[in-house]
Amino acid sequence: MDGEWLDNLYKLFLQQMQDGIILSDADGTIVFVNDSAERIRKVKRDDIMGRSLLDCHKETSREKVERALTYLKTHEGALFSRMVTDAVNDRYYENVYVPVFGGEHALQGIAVLSRDITDKRKAEESKAAYMRAQELAHDTLREQFHGLMMTSMEMLSNLLEARDLYTNGHSKRVCDIATKLHEHMYGMDEHFLDLQWAAKLHDIGKICIPDAIVHKPGRLTTEEYETIKQHSRLAGDIVRPLDPGSRIWPIIRHHHERFDGRGYPDGQGGKEIPDGARVIAIADAYDAMRSCRPYRDAMSFEQCIDEIRGNAGTQFDPDWIEVFLDLARTGSID
Ligand SMILES: [Fe+2]
Repeated sequence: MDGEWLDNLYKLFLQQMQDGIILSDADGTIVFVNDSAERIRKVKRDDIMGRSLLDCHKETSREKVERALTYLKTHEGALFSRMVTDAVNDRYYENVYVPVFGGEHALQGIAVLSRDITDKRKAEESKAAYMRAQELAHDTLREQFHGLMMTSMEMLSNLLEARDLYTNGHSKRVCDIATKLHEHMYGMDEHFLDLQWAAKLHDIGKICIPDAIVHKPGRLTTEEYETIKQHSRLAGDIVRPLDPGSRIWPIIRHHHERFDGRGYPDGQGGKEIPDGARVIAIADAYDAMRSCRPYRDAMSFEQCIDEIRGNAGTQFDPDWIEVFLDLARTGSID
């Protein structure tokens, strides 16, 4: 094949490439500039041929480019890339500097390739903007859902309080005692609010039980007792849709489980019962004993403490009973 013809083909190919190409010799003197380089870099071939590669750069970037060229001249296979913004025409270019080594690893020259990356860059920017908008939308939705969840639980709590006149603030008192126990053991940790909501709403299932049973002034029949036992399961079901993280409703569902496994609704036992449910069980029983009922007077503080202590390990978690007795001794619970 004719060598001259092939050299001509190389030249034509370089001349007509879409990417800009500027070639310099080993000293950095420009020896070749193709059409795309003129267009992309806004230079005239005749103005820069025979001049230094550094002359194609603004004063502000010359030092950086000079440092890079010095490095490239002694590092075969290395390359240096920098992005250039054309703010006037809203275009982005990538300039890649590549050293060209010949036989014996001798530097022959430097090639500078310039590519228009505006479309790629804009696609990346659009994608990033889309992702940011998505994240923002998710954050907003999450906040709205959280607000809605809080409002709904507040409504349920108000509903229970309004229907709770008979027990006169029982849920609030259970909440006070349970949160004192929790705080004494763990401090104000990330489960504190969950326990607070669970305590406020633990008996919300009673709104589904007939008043005649809930407010019956006397002992319940076996059948009535079985009906009222449904309230903890119902309460869990009511709160569950508002608690996608399942941090609250299981506490509510299991607040009548017993440590010995003889409670309801699922007969769970020991530490299998959610921690908060074991706390509420104690607070619930204590407040019920301390309050008047139509069929009995309120029990004294000492009677209640004896009763609670006597059920450690059977009805109640003995570890939580220790905490309860500590608080009772120091007057935090009265
Ligand atoms: Fe209950």
